[in-house]
This record gives sequence, structure tokens and C-alpha cells, in this order.
Amino acid sequence: MSRPLNRAESSPTATTARHLMFDDLEQLDQILAATSDMARDFVQGADDMDVTCRDFSAFDPSRPMPGQGCGTLDALRAAQEEILPLLAASIGPRYLGFVTGGTTPAALAGDWLTGAIDQNATGPEGSVTAAVEEQVINWLCEMAGLPHGRFDGVLTTGATVSNLLGLVAGRQWCGQQIGVDVDADGAGVLPGFEIFAASPHASMIKDLSVTGIGRNSFTKVATRPRTEETDITDLKAKLVASTARAKLVIASAGTVNATDFDDLIAIADLCAAYGAWLHVDAAFGMFAALDDRRAHLLAGLDRADSITSDGHKWLNVPYDCGIFLTRHISVLETCCRAFAPYLQTDAVGNMYINRGVENSRRFRALPLWLAMVAYGRGGFAGIVRANCDQAVDLAQWVRGHDRLELLADPKLNVTMFTGPGSDDDNCALLSRINATGKLFMTPTIYGGRFGFRAAFSNWRIQDHDMEIVRNAIDSVL
Ligand SMILES: Cc1ncc(COP(=O)(O)O)c(C=O)c1O
Repeated sequence: MSRPLNRAESSPTATTARHLMFDDLEQLDQILAATSDMARDFVQGADDMDVTCRDFSAFDPSRPMPGQGCGTLDALRAAQEEILPLLAASIGPRYLGFVTGGTTPAALAGDWLTGAIDQNATGPEGSVTAAVEEQVINWLCEMAGLPHGRFDGVLTTGATVSNLLGLVAGRQWCGQQIGVDVDADGAGVLPGFEIFAASPHASMIKDLSVTGIGRNSFTKVATRPRTEETDITDLKAKLVASTARAKLVIASAGTVNATDFDDLIAIADLCAAYGAWLHVDAAFGMFAALDDRRAHLLAGLDRADSITSDGHKWLNVPYDCGIFLTRHISVLETCCRAFAPYLQTDAVGNMYINRGVENSRRFRALPLWLAMVAYGRGGFAGIVRANCDQAVDLAQWVRGHDRLELLADPKLNVTMFTGPGSDDDNCALLSRINATGKLFMTPTIYGGRFGFRAAFSNWRIQDHDMEIVRNAIDSVL
């Protein structure tokens, strides 16, 4: 049987590395100061950097790992030379791809602290992390306009995992309604399980595979003409026709292209009538609640059984931070509980280890908490309102442009448009736009046509950025 090496017996390489770490601990001030300088230069320089990097050939992924380390200050210098120049300025104001939030200074501070204090946020044993997460979840519910105390939840790695939890908890609840236990006996005990969705996000399709339900195993509901919204008449017809005894409806509050919102009241009525679990994907749309001009779009959200949202999108906290809320927290805890004698505690508080996929968990409530305390509800409302206005401004410019065409009126923070010529021409045009380095947009297909998608989700976008965006597009048209 092997016994642990003591210091004298350990290999010279291991001993040197240990010395390097203790040396580093002694010079922690210099290390943190150097890190802070690098981070400040990057964050402040993001306005002027090329928005994306398109050539990483200078970085060799196959280089062997060093046997002897060089210490943190030299490693930081290496990162400064080899990695930082090859990054995207996705925290900057003109990265309009996907739905990419930036990082507010408070959230950045919270994220740094999270790494420094390195808590394992599993539950209330010996640390306040669980109580902080509980407070943050209460505040998120308040921001979303959800009635006090009706929802509880957990912070996840992102909306993809939150959607997964919606499927898993919904399937368990469906089983409970008909007296079978999916958690204990597997999904095979369900006498038919039918999922209905009109415009499920790509992450939900992935989750259908991960849960063993199957990517193609959902009933596609029609959308209303020229929208991504659920057609209520079609949903009703499909629920009526269903012979499954377990049913789950996936609705959207803010689709990723057209930012369409389903009629959640009508869908909740149907779910109540046909005994279906209602999951709402509101990855960024949930924060429309902060804009009084758009809060009505979320009417009925309080009747969802589960809700997906994200902090790393519109709340501008660093990756990763997803949000899952449910009215049936005990159902989620049934599916996600992790039992082992060494995990038990009599400390009082929420066991977040039992609410999600992870056992060990980053204290991701802290960046959110810091940003919420630093900027308050008003700060987040300011981001949401400004981004929605920017989407409308770009749409107005496109509408008045003789070579560009708007694909849909923006309802929230995304503008979709296209250029002259064929889809291939426009695909090439998007590459030329992104190659200017002044902005970054992602492609989309909308109404059967190739288009450009500009998603505004960053707190740093200002009027002069909008001008740079317009000029860059014009320069390559
Ligand atoms: C509506 C919607 N749902 C889910 C996701 C997946 O989010 P994440 O990348 O945080 O897992 C996204 C991402 O854009 C989204 O827009």
C-alpha cells in the first residue's frame, strides 16, 4: 500500500513547485496588482479593440506543459503576450452577437472575490453562501414582478441547464399526478409523456437529448403568422388530441430571434385545463419586467410551473450565472437530491446541492449580489431600457436605408435585418461587416431568409457606438 510522501522524499520538481506557491503567497500584493493592471487595461481598452479575433495561429494548443513552472508574475506576462491579444472584446459595447451581456464593475469585483474566497456553495454548512443565494433569488423574483414567496429556485451554470431542470422537474411532477415515480423508477413508468413547443431554443433541443427524451420527441406547435409566438388555437387542438397522460408545455418569453413573447395567460389556462406543466424560457426576456413600456409582455409568468432565466445575459454579470425558478421546489429537490452520509448537515438553510446538476458549486450568487447592491433595481432597469431603445434606433436606421431591409420590428433588444442580393451575398456581407473589427453580429434565418442579428445586451453601449456600427456597415455595403 502506498503511503503519502513527506516533503523530504518528494521529487525535486514537486518541491520547487511548492516553493513557487509559497513564494507567490508572499508576493500576493504584486500578483494581484499585476492582475488588476491587466484586467483594467483589457476592460477599459475594450472600446478600441477589434471586437473579435479571427486569427489564433500564433497560439499553439499542442505545446507541451512546462515541467518546471515560472511563478505567477511570469505566467501573467506570458498570458499578456500569448492570450490577451487573441480575445474577443465581448465585454465591450459593440459585441452584438448571441445575447452576450458584459460585466459591470460591481459584478467584476464580485467575481474576483468569488475566486479569492473559493467557497463551495452547496448549502448552509459553515458558511453564509446559501443565505446569500436565497436573498438573491428573492430579489430576482422581485425584479421579475413575481408574487412574493410563490417561487423559489437555484442559480445554475446557464439557461441551458435551467431548461434541463425544467424538463426534469416537469417530468417528475407529471408522474406524481398519475401516481408513478420517475425519479425512482425511470421515465419508462410514464404512460406516455408528450412535450409541446412552438419555438424551443436550441438549448432545449439539446436538453431533450440529454434527458433521454429525444431531440425529435416533441410535438411542434404552429407559430402565429410571421412570428415565433405559439399559436394558441393549434396548441389547444394538439392538447385535445393528445392521448398522453403526462404533458409538458414549453413557452417562450423572448425568443432568441424575434424576441417574441407567448401569450402566457392563454397558455397557462390551457395547461390548467389539460393538466400540463408549464415551463417558460425567459432567458433574457424575464427582465423586460424592468421596462414599464414592456412589462405587460410577461403577464401570466407568475402562473408558470418553472422559469428559465440568466444573469450572464442582461444582468451583465460574468459567466457563468443561470437562473431557475419554480413553484414546486420540493419536486426539483426530489430529482436532484444527492445523498451520502458525508453530505448530511443539521445546519438550517437551503441545500442548493439538492436543487441542480452540480454537487460542488461556485458561489455565483456573490457577483449578482454585489451588482444588485451597487446598482439597485434602477441600474438594471437602465440597461434594459437603453438596450431596447438601441434596438429600435438601429431598426429605424435600417428602415430608412436604401440597401438594407428590416426582417422584423424589434420588440425587445434584438434587431434583425438583411442586405441586398441573395442569401449567399448576405452571408458574405456579414463576414465583411464583422471583419471591420468595429462590431460583431451573428447570422440568423428568419422567415426563410438569411439575416444579421444585432443583440443589444451590454451596459456600455453609447450613442457614439451606434454611429460606429452604422458607419462600419455602410463602409462595406
Ligand atoms: C431563449 C434562450 N434560452 C436559452 C439560452 C441558452 O442560454 P445559455 O447559453 O446561458 O445556456 C439562450 C441563449 O441565448 C436563449 O436566448
